[in-house]
Amino acid sequence: MRQKLIAGNWKMNGLSDEGLRLAEGIVDRRLRAMEYGNESGRSCELLICPPFTLLSQIRPILGGTGIALGAQDCHPETSGAHTGDISAGMLGDVGCECVIVGHSERRQNHGESDALVRAKANAALQAGLAPIVCIGETDSQREQGQTQDVLRSQMEGSLPEMKGRDATSLVIAYEPVWAIGTGKSAAVQDIIDAHEGIRSYLAERFGSDLAQRVRVLYGGSVKPENAVDLLSLDNVDGALVGGASLKVEDFWAIATSCP
Ligand code: PGA
Repeated sequence: MRQKLIAGNWKMNGLSDEGLRLAEGIVDRRLRAMEYGNESGRSCELLICPPFTLLSQIRPILGGTGIALGAQDCHPETSGAHTGDISAGMLGDVGCECVIVGHSERRQNHGESDALVRAKANAALQAGLAPIVCIGETDSQREQGQTQDVLRSQMEGSLPEMKGRDATSLVIAYEPVWAIGTGKSAAVQDIIDAHEGIRSYLAERFGSDLAQRVRVLYGGSVKPENAVDLLSLDNVDGALVGGASLKVEDFWAIATSCP
């Protein structure tokens, strides 16, 4: 049984004041749910991925809440002359358990290739972090009926080496590029088809046992209004949430939409 994961990707948002308030707001909801024995919001795992600058300030706020801390990117090397970069080991050192790699904004804005994303995902695993590997088709690829081929080829190139690894240390986020930040989420049937395709690729590549245990999230305009429908899908193991993760009420409403 795969436990649903709701991950907030804050992107490049949040100075100290608002970032800490946001983290505290989510923690407050979680603690109140725990205190009152309220199951809502406890049936899923929660993860927040603030910008690098807030990680070490937010870590102590999350202590004892079960909410995990993650980052939005890492460098494939462990250390060295890479000005401005952050290694996976450094993220582990400040208390991160996960790191997003290959987000479409990085693939597009920083020209990240599948090979680079794979190297980052391998580095994350080496450092004891779970990589959340993002894949997704563009609007024109979707219109040309190439979605499944694009997803397979991105997985072929960017998923890490899993030999000897536990399936729970890998998370995949299916994020149609055209749905990110646009308010337009993919249609339920398209999500079902994409997630089925991803799961069958995983089974071919890693075997069915691992394929059944890897979590596959959906991302792209997830909001309180569509969360129940999306999160009730069997093959959707949670959500990677951008814009709506910046408001406590919205993020919590999504978290409590998990069945
Ligand atoms: P969005 O972003 O929820 O704002 O569409 C999702 C993401 O980019 O991870």
